[in-house]
Amino acid sequence: TDEMNARYKNPDGDVRGLWKSGDVLVKSFSQSGVFPIINPNTQEEFYPPKGSCYRFSEDSAKRYLKENRFYFGKDGKGGPQLKRFLSEVQEGIVTKTIWLRTEVGDNQDAKKEVKVFNDDSIFSTPKPERLIRRILELSTKPDDLILDSFLGSGTTAAVAHKMGRKWIGIELGEHAKTHCYPRLKQVVDGEQGGISKAVNWQGGGGFKFYTLAPSLLNQDQYGNWIISKEYNPQMLAAAMAKQEGFRYQPHQHIYWKQGQSAEQDFIFTTTQFLTVESLDRIHNEMQTGETLLICCKAFQQDCKNKFPEITIKKIPQMLYKRCEFGKDDYSLNIVNMPVKEASAEQP
Ligand SMILES: C[S@@+](CC[C@H](N)C(=O)[O-])C[C@H]1O[C@@H](n2cnc3c(N)ncnc32)[C@H](O)[C@@H]1O
Repeated sequence: TDEMNARYKNPDGDVRGLWKSGDVLVKSFSQSGVFPIINPNTQEEFYPPKGSCYRFSEDSAKRYLKENRFYFGKDGKGGPQLKRFLSEVQEGIVTKTIWLRTEVGDNQDAKKEVKVFNDDSIFSTPKPERLIRRILELSTKPDDLILDSFLGSGTTAAVAHKMGRKWIGIELGEHAKTHCYPRLKQVVDGEQGGISKAVNWQGGGGFKFYTLAPSLLNQDQYGNWIISKEYNPQMLAAAMAKQEGFRYQPHQHIYWKQGQSAEQDFIFTTTQFLTVESLDRIHNEMQTGETLLICCKAFQQDCKNKFPEITIKKIPQMLYKRCEFGKDDYSLNIVNMPVKEASAEQP
């Protein structure tokens, strides 16, 4: 903690940085811990007091002397004190079970932190950045991926970002837009509240903000799977392109070229009944080497397998097959994860 760190000083200007003096004696007696340590400045011998012993062996003491790990007081004439360097102990502090508000903050601190990002509506249950910092310090390393599926005012993401972790935040409420988004934008810009000064946060990185679409499939009153009424034809076409691994990019003039996966591989989603006639028209427009996936609600039986370069799939059946209902294993099946662009600002 900052308070613990403040106990470290460097009165002899040691190049290893801040240190505090540690006890050279140990309670449990062992004869091997009884030997003299010679003060190199005065050649005076220092034995442990009668009945006690040093906490290290004579060999270790010799090494400590050589490595300048003993401090013999301001004037250099005193008995040995063991230097415990902050840089060496920091990784190994065992955390206590009680975390005091003086160390990790409280709700008042958290509210003040959030107020900076949204003064109009203070989020009611924010956590202080110092608290999340403590948790992330104990449980993660830089570059780890942190998931907070109840992001609230965005504290976890803000702290993870400042601590050099990657993060994913999920938030159901409007405060995703009113709190999380402005807060994280300011973090990227180098905001100096919360733990910023303690971790020397200077700004940088970036993030992407996604809005989850409504569920594409719904069950009707008879339990049949149908396409959600919230989807208009464009939304459906975009969703199908995404599902099938195509980039949704409707062609300006050719209506059936809605998306592309490779240079000559296209997707077309239609809510209309596909007839042989309309299929022939599309086929006539296709250039040699082009392939096409048609996603439709229904089609004339003769369409199936009519052209080897055209594949026809029926929605919602094609989607339904992909859904994982009633399975024991619901391990996340992420289709088409966004690819990290070389120049993109990523958290
Ligand atoms: C207690 S708050 C989290 C506070 C957060 N730790 C902070 O410091 O700001 C819990 C949040 O979870 C959100 N939430 C609840 N159910 C959710 C769900 N199913 N999906 C996503 N977010 C949800 C709530 O809207 C609320 O903002």
